[in-house]
Amino acid sequence: MKLLITGGAGFIGSHVVRLFVEKYPHYQVFNLDKLTYAGNLQNLRDIEARANYSFLRGDITDAAFVEAIFSEHRFDAVVHLAAESHVDRSIAEPLAFVETNVLGTVNLLNTAKKHWQGLLEGKLFYHVSTDEVYGSLGEEGLFTEETRYDPRSPYSASKAASDHFVRAWHHTYGLPVKLSNCSNNYGPNHFPEKLIPLAIHNIREGRPVPVYGKGENVRDWLYVLDHARAIDVIFHQGKVGETYNVGGVNEWRNLDLIELLCEVMDEKLGRDKGESRKLITFVKDRAGHDLRYAIDSGKLMKELGWKPSVTFEEGLRKTVDWYLANEQWLKEVTSGHYRDYYTQQYEHR
Ligand code: NAD
Ligand code: TYD
Repeated sequence: MKLLITGGAGFIGSHVVRLFVEKYPHYQVFNLDKLTYAGNLQNLRDIEARANYSFLRGDITDAAFVEAIFSEHRFDAVVHLAAESHVDRSIAEPLAFVETNVLGTVNLLNTAKKHWQGLLEGKLFYHVSTDEVYGSLGEEGLFTEETRYDPRSPYSASKAASDHFVRAWHHTYGLPVKLSNCSNNYGPNHFPEKLIPLAIHNIREGRPVPVYGKGENVRDWLYVLDHARAIDVIFHQGKVGETYNVGGVNEWRNLDLIELLCEVMDEKLGRDKGESRKLITFVKDRAGHDLRYAIDSGKLMKELGWKPSVTFEEGLRKTVDWYLANEQWLKEVTSGHYRDYYTQQYEHR
């Protein structure tokens, strides 16, 4: 098995690469990543010398580059995670999301189709997507695989478009595909522009923790290693042409989540109870902020036997421990570009 994983230097991708490299030593794993601000090879230091792992630096939108690596390595399967992934950045700079998430995905599909023509047996294009394509829920209900797409941010619209293109390549050209749509991930190696790592970072530094609006928006949170396990199960046992929802059965209102995180941080940092909570600062709401995401992963659980392995309390503690133990990682990713982004994003809120 020659497996191409795209976006393997990012948050989720690095956990997926590690899982496949370690669990399947007979697979040859190629990690294709552009190393944008979100990609970091430090995430893979522990496995980079493995004989069954190679890194390919490049851009999924670069047709000549993607063609060249398919010609050279003759991949049997693709697990596609490379994307622009942050909603706030998509509001500020939507075009980059169309380029990478839509054009990049179509470029990969086209190249896979060309190289696999007449040789489809055993081939697979697995597309990793988000529950945000389904839009926003009210107080009640869950997203199922049948929920109508209703994306509302430039990020979710670009991911929805990419999902449609993947299904179109399956129906029109017979490309063997699988898709999964997952809820919010958290865990080690998460870039600190997303809520949980940003809050951990700010609490540690004694800086304000920005909560958008009244903190009433709800997200379902899944530990990143459980997402990587789901991708493994779907890759190997899922049905071709099918979509699987992945979630943590773990809904949290943002404010409740941040308050829990503050308690954990007080304990881990030896601060007085309630001290970190004082850092919570309500700021201007995100434009078009989706109220609630909640996902029904019943199909994945019943058909393929997957379930989350850690509770949220456990996962959050492991995450905080990782950030406290990896100060250097955080220092490196929060230098330079991140500081500019942070100032731009929060100075007027
Ligand atoms: P991330 O931003 O941490 O990582 C994305 C990776 O893709 C980075 O390493 C980056 O360098 C790479 N990349 C970006 N543009 C590229 C390009 N043009 N060519 C090659 N590489 C490029 O993202 P993540 O949170 O790890 O998300 C991975 C995937 O999972 C995305 O497709 C995302 O939509 C999806 N997803 C994420 C979440 C979440 O909570 N983070 C939830 C559900 C689904
Ligand atoms: P985020 O981690 O950006 O993920 P997504 O928008 O894809 O769900 O945000 C999670 C939730 O936290 C979302 O409702 C927006 C909110 N949020 C804040 O309140 N403050 C922040 O500084 C950030 C980054 C997010």
